[in-house]
Amino acid sequence: MNNEQLTIKRDWKAYYNAVANRPPRKTILTALDAFQKPGIALDLGCGDGRDTVEILRQNWQVLAIDKEPEAIARLQTRPNINSLQLTTQTISFEELQLPKSVDLINASFSLPFCSPEVFPTLWNQIYNSLITGGRFCGHLFGERDSWRNNKLINTFTLQQVTTLLKPYAIELLEEEEHPGTTPLGEDRYWHIFHIVARKI
Ligand SMILES: C[S@@+](CC[C@H](N)C(=O)[O-])C[C@H]1O[C@@H](n2cnc3c(N)ncnc32)[C@H](O)[C@@H]1O
Repeated sequence: MNNEQLTIKRDWKAYYNAVANRPPRKTILTALDAFQKPGIALDLGCGDGRDTVEILRQNWQVLAIDKEPEAIARLQTRPNINSLQLTTQTISFEELQLPKSVDLINASFSLPFCSPEVFPTLWNQIYNSLITGGRFCGHLFGERDSWRNNKLINTFTLQQVTTLLKPYAIELLEEEEHPGTTPLGEDRYWHIFHIVARKI
């Protein structure tokens, strides 16, 4: 077992530098387009706010959550954001208690890093936090992803993803799979599920 299988020590600061100024992801844009009016959103594992800034720009109230103080600091110092609509919380998924009556929960490339023991609880919390008609959008890693053997990373088969999404109407479920690199230039095999789902 190599080190990557024992621990997931990502250099998130280097990651934030590498993805700075990238546009919001298709999943959050698709989910936002599906709403008639703005509401209350959570951004789980918000990073430096790549998606949060777009949710704010569309006049939503956002609670942005990340375990890295650096992420929250970068988000708070972004130019031209409506900080009156933004609340932040520096906390890990493992300790998080989600609020109720939320319209939209975004988790872009962050849930794979929730500890696998806690993931089922967090997934249930996401469902319980959303209002009926509210949406989850974000990404999960697939069973053929490079990090599938890392005991600290969540990966799923397509069947497991569809089971997770049973209490939702699936509005977008795209599977992406190919060799590539991380934003930090590391070679890896990507197997990603892109998800937008409405709570029914
Ligand atoms: C790949 S980055 C994605 C950031 C952002 N959502 C984006 O799309 O650019 C993953 C983020 O999840 C956060 N994260 C990883 N594990 C976490 C955990 N256990 N609890 C809370 N946040 C976590 C990291 O700090 C990082 O900011």
